[in-house]
Amino acid sequence: MRQWELVVAESLRPAEGYVELRCEAPEAIETAPGQFFMLRAGEGPDTYLPRAFSWYRREDPRRVSFLFRVQGPGTAHLAALRPGDLVPATGPLGRGFPLPGRPVRAALLGGGVGVPPLWGLARALRAQGSEVLALVGARSRAHLVGVEDLRAEGAQVLVATDDGSTGYRGPLTDLLPADVDVLYACGPEGMLRRVQEISLAGGPEAYLALEAPMACGYGVCLGCVVERAEPDPALGEYGKYQRVCREGPVFAAGEVRF
Ligand SMILES: Cc1cc2nc3c(=O)[nH]c(=O)nc-3n(C[C@H](O)[C@H](O)[C@H](O)COP(=O)(O)OP(=O)(O)OC[C@H]3O[C@@H](n4cnc5c(N)ncnc54)[C@H](O)[C@@H]3O)c2cc1C
Ligand code: FES
Repeated sequence: MRQWELVVAESLRPAEGYVELRCEAPEAIETAPGQFFMLRAGEGPDTYLPRAFSWYRREDPRRVSFLFRVQGPGTAHLAALRPGDLVPATGPLGRGFPLPGRPVRAALLGGGVGVPPLWGLARALRAQGSEVLALVGARSRAHLVGVEDLRAEGAQVLVATDDGSTGYRGPLTDLLPADVDVLYACGPEGMLRRVQEISLAGGPEAYLALEAPMACGYGVCLGCVVERAEPDPALGEYGKYQRVCREGPVFAAGEVRF
């Protein structure tokens, strides 16, 4: 974990309500797919705490992008930044997606703001010779993000929208083919639960990237805990829980209880 003074290089508007903030670091940053950064997102009392964001595409070791939906004061502040502005950041943080280390057929499911961590994962899997099917979901066509960037990494991309304005109308998990070796998912809890069910019912191994409200991002505030599937009796009451920021944000499907 390190602290950085990132400098905004570009601010893009890839879809309705979304911003891609491309930043430059003073030196190369090493990141693993699924890791995240805590970004300082304002000066006021409502933005006193930094906000968590997965890193998005990176074409250069000194560049890192963040793709986010504008939701509240922190994301509104980041959305208003212009080239040359500073973004104090801590990271990379957390445990990312495990890679199989051999060519596999992988399905990546990303719903809404769950798409950003899948770009680095698609690139890493393709570098290992894997076939990547990316299933990308959004409320409507206007809210879809990441489709062309994932295709550019060699992923086959299928799309689903809640309103049917493009692609399949319905849950992303309906689009899963039977013959995949591993599932990776990030997005709404309902989708993660369904992927967990599929995996634990004898389906492919699966890894889920979770989100939780985070105050510190590095394990001390306990604001981000989720239940362990198997409590650890050696840790007493605390053994029922695990921290999304330290033990996660990526968990194997069998490790978490929703
Ligand atoms: C590990 C991690 C990675 C993330 N990566 C991304 C990303 O790549 N792109 C992106 O758009 N967002 C991402 N998020 C979510 C992002 O941190 C929140 O959207 C952001 O903090 C909102 O800040 P805000 O001040 O704009 O809104 P706030 O006013 O803080 O929140 C707006 C609304 O969203 C809810 N909310 C805020 N944070 C979370 C959360 N973590 N989980 C569930 N509900 C929440 C609040 O309760 C409130 O209702 C990530 C979160 C985590 C934990
Ligand atoms: S955010 Fe503080 S312990 Fe996880």
